[in-house]
Amino acid sequence: MTQGSQFDAQKLVNVVQEGIEKIKNAYSTKELKAIKSEFTGADSAMTLASKAIGGLISEKKKEAGQILGKARADFGRAFAAKEQELREKEEAAALASERADMTLPIERKPLGSRHPLPKLLENVEDFFISMGWQISEGPEVESEWFDFDALNFGPDHPARQMQDTFYVKGNQAKNAAGFVGSNMVLRTQTSSDQVRALLSKGVPLYIASPGRVFRTDELDATHTPVFHQCEALAVDKNLTMADLKGVLDKLAVAMFGPEAKSRLRPSYFPFTEPSAELDLWFPDKKGGPGWIEWGGCGMVNPNVLKSAGIDPEEYTGFAFGVGMERTLLLRYDINDMHDLVEGDIRFSKQFVMGE
Ligand code: DAH
Repeated sequence: MTQGSQFDAQKLVNVVQEGIEKIKNAYSTKELKAIKSEFTGADSAMTLASKAIGGLISEKKKEAGQILGKARADFGRAFAAKEQELREKEEAAALASERADMTLPIERKPLGSRHPLPKLLENVEDFFISMGWQISEGPEVESEWFDFDALNFGPDHPARQMQDTFYVKGNQAKNAAGFVGSNMVLRTQTSSDQVRALLSKGVPLYIASPGRVFRTDELDATHTPVFHQCEALAVDKNLTMADLKGVLDKLAVAMFGPEAKSRLRPSYFPFTEPSAELDLWFPDKKGGPGWIEWGGCGMVNPNVLKSAGIDPEEYTGFAFGVGMERTLLLRYDINDMHDLVEGDIRFSKQFVMGE
């Protein structure tokens, strides 16, 4: 039907019927809208028919108007019914797709992993606490007096040399014991806590001092300039080397399993007399069992007790110190110190002890 064409009732009815069919088959409100503009827009059969009616003689106008009116009404009803049906369907679908399942597990972010070293330190502390000993903590920036003098190191002892010890600028600090004029150092050993603890806590004394120590070493497979030790000190009446040996064997078992044991080899340390190297034996997974150096120990030198104002005729003591990195390397058969200091989480994740 073009502009000025005749009013063709049959054609109009057919076209509208076709529109109603399309409406019935529509699958979305969007498609429905498109059908509406196709069948009622400016070029549609209904609009053109409406225009054509204007050109009819008046007797025919009424009849044509009725046909057009019915066609419009039929189309409109079909449209309204389908629109409601599709709208409801679409709303239901939107609700379903937006539904949140509260029972779904949340996406967990990996939380990292603790480094095995602090875990080991906790294990060691637990060992001493289980025997009724105290955990003591000395400062990392320490006076040379506590780190060396009080421990019977002579003024020319090589360990004091700048090559081994980090000296801290702005020295001459007054230390906890009130000794003015002692240089400050980064402590080279946790033995520095021996006299400090004796002075502050008195005797009898049973302490373990775990912590960080510093030496001017280069980082390589077996050394690191910052590492950890655990010092143990017992001062009481009638303590002997047998007591020392008993504690060492128990620590070996706690760290390396029920078959582990310790051995003492004569040695020298300024702060113990007699002194011994502490060796460890445990059924090593790799390379078979054997004796491995683990730390140092001995009976507290009377001069150390005197530094703390304790009468060596009345009290005796034993002490030992073990390296914590060394303990970790031995316990887990780790070959390279770099693994311990680089902080790679893939390394830390392998250790599950004492979470
Ligand atoms: N402080 C020593 C070191 O760093 C280890 C040590 C040896 C500690 C003998 C002791 C001991 O308590 O008796 O090499």
